[in-house]
Amino acid sequence: MACFYRYHLNFFSLLLLLHLSLTSAASSFRPNALVLPVSKDPNTLQYTIKLTQRTPPVSVPLTLHLGGQFLWVDCDKKYVSSTYRPARCNSAQCSLANSKSCGTCNSSPRPGCNNNTCGLFPDNPFTNTATIGDLSSDLVRVASTNGSNPGRVVSMPHFLFTCAPTFLLQGLANGVQGIAGFGRTKISLPSQFSSAFSFARKFAICLSSSGVVFFGDGPYTFLPRDEEVSSRLTFTPLIINPVSTAGATVAGEPSSEYFIGVTKIKIGEKEVAVNKKLLSIDSEGNGGTKISTVNPYTVMQSSIYKAVSDFFVKYVGDIPRVKAVAPFTVCYGPRSFSSTRAGPGVPAIDFVLQNDKVYWRMFGMNSMVQVNDDVYHLCLGFVDGGKSPRTAIVIGTYQLEDNFLQFDLARSRLGFTSSLLFLQTTCANFNFTSSV
Ligand SMILES: *[C@@H]1O[C@H](CO)[C@@H](O)[C@H](O)[C@H]1NC(C)=O
Ligand SMILES: *[C@@H]1O[C@H](CO)[C@@H](O)[C@H](O)[C@H]1NC(C)=O
Ligand SMILES: *[C@@H]1O[C@H](CO)[C@@H](O)[C@H](O)[C@H]1NC(C)=O
Repeated sequence: MACFYRYHLNFFSLLLLLHLSLTSAASSFRPNALVLPVSKDPNTLQYTIKLTQRTPPVSVPLTLHLGGQFLWVDCDKKYVSSTYRPARCNSAQCSLANSKSCGTCNSSPRPGCNNNTCGLFPDNPFTNTATIGDLSSDLVRVASTNGSNPGRVVSMPHFLFTCAPTFLLQGLANGVQGIAGFGRTKISLPSQFSSAFSFARKFAICLSSSGVVFFGDGPYTFLPRDEEVSSRLTFTPLIINPVSTAGATVAGEPSSEYFIGVTKIKIGEKEVAVNKKLLSIDSEGNGGTKISTVNPYTVMQSSIYKAVSDFFVKYVGDIPRVKAVAPFTVCYGPRSFSSTRAGPGVPAIDFVLQNDKVYWRMFGMNSMVQVNDDVYHLCLGFVDGGKSPRTAIVIGTYQLEDNFLQFDLARSRLGFTSSLLFLQTTCANFNFTSSV
């Protein structure tokens, strides 16, 4: 009897041990980085990612908003999940999200409609609309990466997001169910992933019609020659705009968008005279330069736009211009420029940063846009932002394509590469074949 008891106990502890070691093996896998593919929607020119969320899992298409505060999704349509949880008022989740409101809902409970739940203001920067929605959490799964391939899929059981009503989707790419905010907040996608897996507070975006985003530090390796781009970065400080630039704002909140300190603009290495006052951020949060995935083309305050366009036209000289195609004003016919590795052979445009030696150089593929309007045009890809826009220069996605950008939140700096074409690769060259 004693013998049996002992045997039983040992067998049981063996099982228990086995179980413990298996679960700890599973949870001890800690990724250093995560990876997701990015696509470009041809109609809206928005960049989209797909996040696997809920139980059972659903692949949720989302528009990427670099400066967005958090993830929001449409909870009104077909949100079914056994792991959905509303964030209770005064919980740690509400304070992490910096929520100041506590809401109720008069119909029967469902995702996005709960009593005693704290709220945030989801916004759609494409239509300048904002509303209020329940802070919530649900399971999210993402592929880890060693920098060369996607690896094991890891999960976060309580990923925070905000529920929004269906109307907030207006103006977003077809099929998209929300916005993925990568901004400077504690609950943006990069912040939540970094704290959940205790990896570097860095993320990187590389935009093209089929690009990639990474959460965490490098290596970031691109085919065909295993080019590791984190060793190719030039750094500039990220600047905090003390005044929020979001659709609905809480007084005193800084902007969650990413600003950099452009101090000069050069074309063909010659300085363009612009009003320097516009290039810094004033006490009301106006002026300065930000990077945005909301604008398809770089937008410049009128006087800067005019100075840059006039300088470019003069620099290019005798090449005849053709009728402009809106929203552009400076266009040339086909075969106006030679063809180079990095697009049409036009003078390079430099955004000079903290000193003359640090600049972000744009070549023809990022400055000239092909427009087909009866005839083939090649237009200078900047847009006039009017006399008094909030931000003087908004660097848009056309100028970011095939440039690798790393946002280092801990050190508050941006690493950038200029055109990857000079490294004989592109943002479409991450090897998405899984290694598991
Ligand atoms: C919230 O509470 C009110 C009043 O008790 C109740 O009528 C309503 O159904 C509740 N709503 C939800 C979503 O539980
Ligand atoms: C992509 O990665 C897979 C898995 O590691 C590998 O088998 C394949 O050869 C890689 N593709 C290229 C083009 O190197
Ligand atoms: C990542 O994993 C793949 C597949 O196991 C391997 O071929 C590759 O060399 C690894 N890359 C790095 C940077 O460790």
